[in-house]
Amino acid sequence: MIPLKGKAVQEYTQHFSNGDRREIFELLVNKYEIQSAIYPGSYIHIAPSLYIPITVYIDTYKKVKDFFRDKSIFEFIYKNRTYKKQPVIRFHHKDYNSNIGETFKDFDLLISQYGGFISQSCKKYLKKGGILLANNNHGDASMAYLDEYYEFIGVIYRSNRHYRLTEKNLDKYFIPKKSDLKVTKSYLEKIQRGIGYTKTASTYIFRNLSF
Ligand SMILES: C[S@@+](CC[C@H](N)C(=O)[O-])C[C@H]1O[C@@H](n2cnc3c(N)ncnc32)[C@H](O)[C@@H]1O
Repeated sequence: MIPLKGKAVQEYTQHFSNGDRREIFELLVNKYEIQSAIYPGSYIHIAPSLYIPITVYIDTYKKVKDFFRDKSIFEFIYKNRTYKKQPVIRFHHKDYNSNIGETFKDFDLLISQYGGFISQSCKKYLKKGGILLANNNHGDASMAYLDEYYEFIGVIYRSNRHYRLTEKNLDKYFIPKKSDLKVTKSYLEKIQRGIGYTKTASTYIFRNLSF
């Protein structure tokens, strides 16, 4: 990684001093056809732009607006990117439920990490056959699992301090520890968090089946 000076770069490296999960995006682009991504509730997590040429970030937090105004972060992405194209980065300082002015069915990847039920409110931006990456801290992976719009196709898990991707043994996931628990969309909306499963992963991969 090429180090750079700048307030935003410093903020990024400090915030993600325990790792920015960039390996996840490397695994995804190596496995699936991904050239563009949309990241609602991104905060300052720009790791996708190191692997994906076009990424749209959305966040309501004022601090994030200042972060994306700082040119040093674009230089950081440019110098550390793993593709030849010029990176395209757009930031919307908006609620991801509002009209952000991006084209529907335009993105190869929708990213949902610790930001609420993004699989639901932002599914309209995914291309037919596009990929959703969702973790379960706010229950969004559970929500996508229940949604007929998505097919559960893989997981990313940690092993020996590395992230790994598998599409195998998926029937072992999303089995509640409480065997009598009836998981529904309205139940997940009510509790606003993940539920206890017998087997879990760091994050889950779905494909938009599109209608
Ligand atoms: C816990 S942070 C997650 C950061 C990032 N996704 C990551 O994995 O490092 C959640 C972010 O989602 C943003 N957020 C939550 N609800 C939002 C909404 N409706 N519209 C836009 N941003 C939202 C918050 O401002 C916050 O920055």
